[in-house]
Amino acid sequence: MSALSVRVWRGTESGGFQEFSVPRLESQTVLDVVTYIQRALDPTLSYRFACRVGMCGSCAMTVNGRARWTCRTHVSRVAADGRLEIAPLANLPVVKDLVTDMTVFFDKWARARGRFEGGATRRDDFARVEPGSRRRQAADAGIECIGCGVCYSSCDVVAWNPDYLGPAALNRAWTLVNDARDTGNRARLAAVAGDAGCHACHTHMSCTERCPKQISPTAAIAGLKRATALAALRGELGDAVTK
Ligand code: SF4
Ligand code: SF4
Ligand code: FES
Repeated sequence: MSALSVRVWRGTESGGFQEFSVPRLESQTVLDVVTYIQRALDPTLSYRFACRVGMCGSCAMTVNGRARWTCRTHVSRVAADGRLEIAPLANLPVVKDLVTDMTVFFDKWARARGRFEGGATRRDDFARVEPGSRRRQAADAGIECIGCGVCYSSCDVVAWNPDYLGPAALNRAWTLVNDARDTGNRARLAAVAGDAGCHACHTHMSCTERCPKQISPTAAIAGLKRATALAALRGELGDAVTK
């Protein structure tokens, strides 16, 4: 049986890579490698996962320099030469080893007003949204985001400007802007129009290239740029409530 040479980040913001030798197995994922290290070689290694089938997004890490879901990344795809370097997601504080603190990521969803704000009461009929309508299709394009942070970790603008809301929060905002039932768009567009909002995006596309759900935050952000420009022309941004 051949062996993989695996470098794993140990520590917090400061620390270093520790080298492990892991048996190479058929159909092995990067998450299998991390799990082997923790169970067989060093039980103090900290990492995060839940579903192991690409549903929860909690296993995202930086693998050979690129953010990925480790449970859906086969070793054969990323370590042809038998070498792996596994680090925590970039652009987020490190709690320990491969675990990042996602607080700022989800705080930015809140800042972008990424929660549904309905106006209907229990006495109203169901909303009927035409499946083929332009807004419904735009909302559908981003709705499957599971908040894994891969796009956020891949974004250079977040690295340069830690205040930038980032691709996931902006994708969520655009999904809601296109939800015909939502009533919070005026404040939402004001929230994403500032210096740290959609206009800070440089359209590098890394978020779109790396999203494991094939979502395009870049397209969502382009939609927000158009919508905020229109809202500004109509004078609708200035008096919006941005709490
Ligand atoms: S847009 Fe994609 S990469 Fe970004 S958080 Fe959502 S699922 Fe993850
Ligand atoms: S397209 Fe915008 S949000 Fe996406 S990675 Fe590039 S700068 Fe970041
Ligand atoms: S463990 Fe849930 S997506 Fe990888």
